[in-house]
Amino acid sequence: MFEELFHNVLKRKPLLKEEKFLSVDFPTRILHRDNEIEELMTYYSSLITNTGVRAVNQILLGDRGVGKTATAKFFSRSLEKTALKRGINLKYVHINCRKERTEYKVLVKINQTLSPRIPKRGYSPQDLMDFLTEFLEKEDIYLLLVLDEFDSLLDGEAGLLYSLVRINDDTNNVHKRLNIIGILSYNVKFERNISFLSKFFRDIRHYFQQNAIIFKPYTQEQVFDILKHRVSISFNQNTVSDEIINYIASIVVKSGDIRCGLNLLWSSSKIAEKNNLNIVTLKCVHRAYQELVPYSIREMIKHMTEHKLLFLFAIVDKLKNQVDKSEISLHEVVNEYNNICRTSGISPRSYSQLWNYVQEWKKDEIIDAKLEGGGLKGRKSFLQFPEIINLKKFSQNISKALQSKGIIV
Ligand SMILES: Nc1ncnc2c1ncn2[C@@H]1O[C@H](COP(=O)(O)OP(=O)(O)O)[C@@H](O)[C@H]1O
Ligand SMILES: [Mg+2]
Repeated sequence: MFEELFHNVLKRKPLLKEEKFLSVDFPTRILHRDNEIEELMTYYSSLITNTGVRAVNQILLGDRGVGKTATAKFFSRSLEKTALKRGINLKYVHINCRKERTEYKVLVKINQTLSPRIPKRGYSPQDLMDFLTEFLEKEDIYLLLVLDEFDSLLDGEAGLLYSLVRINDDTNNVHKRLNIIGILSYNVKFERNISFLSKFFRDIRHYFQQNAIIFKPYTQEQVFDILKHRVSISFNQNTVSDEIINYIASIVVKSGDIRCGLNLLWSSSKIAEKNNLNIVTLKCVHRAYQELVPYSIREMIKHMTEHKLLFLFAIVDKLKNQVDKSEISLHEVVNEYNNICRTSGISPRSYSQLWNYVQEWKKDEIIDAKLEGGGLKGRKSFLQFPEIINLKKFSQNISKALQSKGIIV
C-alpha cells in the first residue's frame, strides 16, 4: 500500500520545475522598479565618483512585499561590483534587523560580516563601534550598510542610527566611510502622515537625504508581469495560464504583497499535483486561497490560552470587518476584546497583560505592531498581520479552538 502510493507520487509529472525560484529570497530580475533604482543611483553614485567625500544615507519606504529588499539587494550588489571594477573597496553588508532584534546584535553582525574573526561576546556597544571605525580605516573599506526592516528596532528612539551616522563625524579620518540604506515597512497607501518618522528623525534628520524613496504599491498589470516572470522560471511550460496568473494578481493587488502571490502559486501547484492535474486550475487557486492561514499559526492556536485566543479573535474580527485598511488600532481591538469578554461572561485581562501578548506575538512574527508617536504602553499602536491570510478562515480556526475550551464566540 505504502510502496504503491509512493510509486504513484514519484510517477507524477511535477508542475514545478525549480521550487527554489519561488522562494522569497531568490534573487530574480527586478521588474517595474526602474525609477526607484534610478533614484538610488542618483544618490549613491557619488560613492564611486567622489569616494569618501560625503556620506550618503537614504531611507526606503513602502508596504510589505513591494520589492524594497529585493531592489536594495540588487542595487547594492551591482554598486559593489561596479566599484570593484574601478578599484574602490566598497563593501555591501545587508542586515535584517528583524532577525538581529537588538542594536547590540546588529553591531555584532556588522562586525562579524566584515571580519569573521571577531568573537561574538565580550564587547560593549562602544567597543564594537570603535572596532568598526578602525577596521574600515585600516582596511581602506567604504561600507554600504543596508539596515533592513529597521522599524523592528524602533521604539521611538534612533539610538543605533544616531551612533552609526555619527561615525563619519567622530573620527579624525578624512574619509566618510559609512553609508546607510535604511528600509522601513510602512503602509503608504492608507496613511499619508509620516509623523512617526519625523519624530524618529528629529536628531538625525540632517544626516539623511531630504526625501525618502517611496516604493508605491504595484498595479495589477505590474503584479501580473512580476508573477509571470516567476512562473516562467519556476514552472514547467504551459502549466500555469495567463488567466490563472491574472486571477492571482487580482488577489495580490489588494495588499500589494508579492509574497502572497508566491505563496498562492506554490500552494496551488501542490493542490494540483495532489489531484493528479497537469495544469494549475482556477479551482486549485480558490482552494489555496481558502487555506491561506499558515500551518505554523494554525498549530500555535491549538496551544493558546483562552484569553490569548479571545484577544486574537478580536484582532481578526476587527480586521475582517474593515474593507479599506490592512491594519487596526490596538485601542479598537481592546474595546472589541472587552465586548466579547462581556458577552461571553468572562472577566477580561488587564491592558498591560494584553500588551504583553502583543509583544510576544510580535516576537513570534504572528503579528506586526507599529508604534505611532509613542503613547503609554503602545496605546497608539497599530496591528496587522505580516502576511496575507484568509481572515474568515482564520477566525473560524480560532472560534473552533475556543469552542473546544467551551467558549462560544
Ligand atoms: N519588482 C519586482 N520584480 C521582481 N520580483 C519582485 C518585485 N517586487 C517584489 N518581488 C519579489 O517579491 C518578494 C517580496 O519582495 P521583497 O523585496 O522581500 O519585499 P519588501 O522588502 O518590500 O517587503 C521577493 O521574492 C521579491 O523577489
Ligand atoms: Mg523586506
